[in-house]
Amino acid sequence: MSVRDLIKLAFNAKEYAYSPYSNFKVGAALVAGNDVVYTGCNIENAAYTPTNCAERTAFFKAVSEGVYDFKRIVVVGGNNELCYPCGVCRQVMQEFCDENEFEIIVAKDEENYEVYKLKDLLPKGFKLE
Ligand code: THU
Repeated sequence: MSVRDLIKLAFNAKEYAYSPYSNFKVGAALVAGNDVVYTGCNIENAAYTPTNCAERTAFFKAVSEGVYDFKRIVVVGGNNELCYPCGVCRQVMQEFCDENEFEIIVAKDEENYEVYKLKDLLPKGFKLE
């Protein structure tokens, strides 16, 4: 699927964001190794710490269906600004993704986006080795 189409899916997922506390909506579209796309939105909670980011929602949907291999993720959030994944989400990405291959695409709209490799956004992430 093209980056443009993935950005559309991420914006569609953003509509489902449950964010009554921050009013900050985030959407993600995660492409698995088999090219199936898993979408996610942020899901907040009155107790705050149970909040789940859009990126992790997408990852956990996939992993909960037995999918552990991923190519790229598109993230959109806020109001026409770039939304970079938080540190916790980057660590979750590292758990499942090749840091030299996995792409993180942050998009403002279908034409304006930046592409990073996970290794550039999470240098020296934690590994149990
Ligand atoms: N959030 C995400 O969903 N993804 C990010 O990359 C950054 C932050 C969410 C968490 C919370 O619901 C809201 O944005 C404000 O922090």
